[in-house]
Amino acid sequence: MFGRVKSLDAILATAEKKSLHRSLGAFQLTMLGVGAIIGTGIFVLTAEAAQKAGPGMMVSFVIAGIVCAVAALCYAEMASMVPVSGSAYTYSYAVMGELLAWMVGWALVLEYAIAAGAVSVGWSGYFVGMLAHLNTYWSALPNIVIPIEWAAGPSGGGIMNVPAFVIALLVTWLLVVGTKESATVNAVLVAVKIVALTAFVILAVPVMNGAKFEPFAPLGFGGISAAAASIFFAYVGFDAVSTAAEETKNPQRNMPIGLIGSLAICTIFYLLVAAGVIGTVGAQPMIGADGTGIAPGSSELTTACNAIGNNAVVCSKEALAWTLRQIGYPNIGNLIGLAAILALPSVVLMMMFGQTRIFFVMSRDGLLPPVFSRIHPRFKTPHVITICTGIFVAVFAALFPVGALADISNAGTLFAFAMVAIAVFMLRRTDPSRVRPFRTPAVMLVAPLAVIGSIYLFFSLSAYTLEIFVGWALLGLLIYFSYSRSRSYVGRGIIDVHEDDADVPPQPVPPLPGIHTPGGKDA
Ligand code: ALA
Repeated sequence: MFGRVKSLDAILATAEKKSLHRSLGAFQLTMLGVGAIIGTGIFVLTAEAAQKAGPGMMVSFVIAGIVCAVAALCYAEMASMVPVSGSAYTYSYAVMGELLAWMVGWALVLEYAIAAGAVSVGWSGYFVGMLAHLNTYWSALPNIVIPIEWAAGPSGGGIMNVPAFVIALLVTWLLVVGTKESATVNAVLVAVKIVALTAFVILAVPVMNGAKFEPFAPLGFGGISAAAASIFFAYVGFDAVSTAAEETKNPQRNMPIGLIGSLAICTIFYLLVAAGVIGTVGAQPMIGADGTGIAPGSSELTTACNAIGNNAVVCSKEALAWTLRQIGYPNIGNLIGLAAILALPSVVLMMMFGQTRIFFVMSRDGLLPPVFSRIHPRFKTPHVITICTGIFVAVFAALFPVGALADISNAGTLFAFAMVAIAVFMLRRTDPSRVRPFRTPAVMLVAPLAVIGSIYLFFSLSAYTLEIFVGWALLGLLIYFSYSRSRSYVGRGIIDVHEDDADVPPQPVPPLPGIHTPGGKDA
């Protein structure tokens, strides 16, 4: 069962054939990372973290940042050794065999697709907030209130989150017609996000009041751990840096600078922003009748918030804009809202792109139906899988609250992180002489820390999230044993090497009678 390993040499053969120009330096890599990382996590989930941990969320940000840093160093070694599409799925296939690779690929659906849904919901919060304050943007405009029924899913007291649904479909359309984020667009959006967060820090930090930090951890260390597991979402996305390993100049130097640099920049911003929120408007959680913190995103919290006129940051769906409005900067609060509205769709795009690429590679390995790797004749994109993914993302975004989606995404990501760290460790033993353009420093310490950190955060997620993860994993196993296992090319002894870009039509594979080929033609 664990023996079905896809040969690393076979995977690498194509990568060598189409070796990319090494053009990225430390600065570009860092910007790439910051662009992929900053998103819904800091703009929206700060409120959720406050509801779980109170001011202690500062510690949560640090814990999540450290786990990401050690995992990032492991990712970088793998990405530099196996610089091909498919991320953790491909690494696992080469090291731990098909079943675990399938499980990782299946978990990555949670990471990427559900994260795209979470960011869509985060975007919706700011969009709805902007419409409700249109008049303060420009006095000639009327305020437009989207009723809660159409601005939240059922658990948040609504029917369907229409803006989140629409933005997910719009991004899907962009991906189908072949939009990829250009370096220029990324640079502009990174600047927008950094300017927005800097403005927030400059306005909020000087007027902080130390008393607002008390009590620091009203829900104890359990609350801090739970918030760390949720706010971990704010750091996800750095794997965009590690997947650029092949295009990096001097990866041994630049890769860790890009990874750790982007994580460090984000951590500093996150801590300052969190301090700014706590120190100005306070971040005490809403406590239920039973004395425990009310679950974020629940209708109970909506009711409790309505009772106090939504006058707490933990009630806000646009935490940063809300805070600035509260401390007397409504216009700058609005501009920060606008920055989030402009920048978050690119995070949705990157996440969905990553998802389609992983499905695409799994389909070309024979583990998913070949129709998924069909390429659009005109747009040259994997349109079938993109549309399926887009509908999945849009439906989830329409129905679930941002925090629940972020938590589910985190469960998948943490599972993949742990697997990658184990794979790095195993490969050092089984294949010590292979060229590693980047080597994880102090791997004996860093890899186990990444595994332990991921497990700790994983089990700090809510029981509900873990149940969904287990359900998803069981569904994955069912599909693997009933469909994928018998169709796997590796299992059938077909060594196909085609890890090219998802935009390139797949290579023909020798057909078996009655089985579809990856090109979508019947054999
Ligand atoms: N880190 C990304 C965000 O916070 C996923 O939106």
